[in-house]
Amino acid sequence: MREFKKIYDFHNHVVNGVDDGSDSLENSIKMLRQAVEQGVTHVVCTPHQFETDAPLNLPKRQETVLQNFNIIKKVVKNLEIPIELSLGSEIMFFADIKKYLDAPYMSINDNKKYVMIEFRLIGPPVDYVDVFYKLISDGYQPILAHPERINGLYREQGNLIRLLKMGVLFQINTGSLLGYFGKQVQAIANKYLRNNWIHLLGSDAHTLNIKRGFSMQKGIKYITNHHQHVNLEKILEENPKAVIAGEHVEVEVGYYEYHRNKKGILSKIFRKIKNNFI
Ligand SMILES: [Fe+2]
Repeated sequence: MREFKKIYDFHNHVVNGVDDGSDSLENSIKMLRQAVEQGVTHVVCTPHQFETDAPLNLPKRQETVLQNFNIIKKVVKNLEIPIELSLGSEIMFFADIKKYLDAPYMSINDNKKYVMIEFRLIGPPVDYVDVFYKLISDGYQPILAHPERINGLYREQGNLIRLLKMGVLFQINTGSLLGYFGKQVQAIANKYLRNNWIHLLGSDAHTLNIKRGFSMQKGIKYITNHHQHVNLEKILEENPKAVIAGEHVEVEVGYYEYHRNKKGILSKIFRKIKNNFI
């Protein structure tokens, strides 16, 4: 495999006792050892801090997140596990989300700028472009978590391009590329990569098992073999570093599939017209 100085895993549930990820300190440490085996040098912990039960349980959950994250950090240091940790959150989309974003560590590294937001897998919410636009006007920069897993989202090309033009970052899961969420999700993840629409990569690890564990090395290998045009240094190190520091990340709008589809539709129409005249 290609050597990288740093590999940041930008999406995982390694903090124990707060969501559907790790259920014990012991398992969190095992997961981090697995991350090291996968070549990861820095883990950005993104527990589900904002779920459907928020805001009712948000303060209590945040207390647990911080407490358990600090314990994990201490154990990692004592055991000399060669991995760095940062804390952020994965936030369930909610139209009125803005009023909760200043709570501790809702943003990545608590920088009050980058916020990682997920949609329900059944399909994108109707108002996401407007909500993201308002968040950006208020100084936040959304990161869309695993868009390849959201049913029907890729068909909303116009909206996706609008998001990219607003500087929204897209994070995909290595498991999606490896086919762990089915062939359709895998095909869509490949489309995002072909378009150059990926800015961050993460395992979205919940446990130790192959499909829901850390799988960065396999994911990187897959991208190296199938998408040579992708700047992996940027995705694995430059972008995550900038996001953690709250610095600007340049988002380019690739048009590969978009134009190819348009071209496909246009040539179909021309063919039809031509056939009518012959
Ligand atoms: Fe997640």
